[in-house]
Amino acid sequence: MPTQMTQQQLLLELEPVVAGELNRHIPMAKEWFPHQYVPWSEGRNFDGPLGGDPWAEDQSELSDVARSALIVNLLTEDNLPSYHHEVAVLFGRDAAWGDWVHRWTAEEGRHGTAIRDYLVVKRAVDPVELERARMTHMSQGYESAHSEDLIRSLAYVSFQELATRVSHRNTGKATGDPVADQLLTRIAADENLHMVFYRNLLKAALDRAPDQTMRAITDVVKTFEMPGADIPGFQRKAVQIAVEGIYDLRQHRDEVVLPVLKFAKVFDIEGLSEEGQRARDELSTFLADLDKQASRFEEKRDTLKARMASRG
Ligand SMILES: [Fe+2]
Ligand SMILES: [Fe+2]
Repeated sequence: MPTQMTQQQLLLELEPVVAGELNRHIPMAKEWFPHQYVPWSEGRNFDGPLGGDPWAEDQSELSDVARSALIVNLLTEDNLPSYHHEVAVLFGRDAAWGDWVHRWTAEEGRHGTAIRDYLVVKRAVDPVELERARMTHMSQGYESAHSEDLIRSLAYVSFQELATRVSHRNTGKATGDPVADQLLTRIAADENLHMVFYRNLLKAALDRAPDQTMRAITDVVKTFEMPGADIPGFQRKAVQIAVEGIYDLRQHRDEVVLPVLKFAKVFDIEGLSEEGQRARDELSTFLADLDKQASRFEEKRDTLKARMASRG
């Protein structure tokens, strides 16, 4: 087996793995219905053609940070057509790869629908602002940083699906609303299965092309950015979300990056070439540095919270 495989070789080599993963995934993915998670009886008409009441901030029962997190999560889900395009072009639409691309897209489609219905019925966020943000965000499209490279993409989506799971799960808790929590827990369960699908493929790639996959993993971990990073006002929201502990560097390193690396046995595989070994060393150094950065952030956050608490 050559250590450097072409994209076409990789697609062919991994196709049976995709088929096997699909057969495992389909019975695992429980059918669910977004409409059952939305408290419709709490809703009422808005201004406009139906002459209802316009949205006002005091109608929202959610904290500012819970709103920010829900908006980021929803806008990220909204960009699905662009993700579908990226994935379909790279994976192709043939055989098991195509079956997966379509199935994954259909499952993801539920998430945006369900979160939007909840937010609008509950008057949790400004629906006009939300719609404008959706238009702006989707009009930008989405271009993956790894759209030419299958292994880098598999590494990226493994981390990204797990990151999304953590973020949905903690956003649910941050809302303080059992209805939202239940919905986001349900969505997070989907994201977990997506992560499992991709990490199993990543592991298969590592077994077949260890040096190439090692380099891909290292590069992806070092440059990782969430797919919603280009949402208008993302930086401010991301800081809020991190300060609240919904998604911060510590969680990113310890609950997202490390579990995927551990599953793939990245630090245990033997027989790497000099190139592969160099990539793995680079990854170790980066993770050690990330640990320090995460601790620094935690200390700053603790100080900030203590100061806020002492002010009452
Ligand atoms: Fe999703
Ligand atoms: Fe997902």
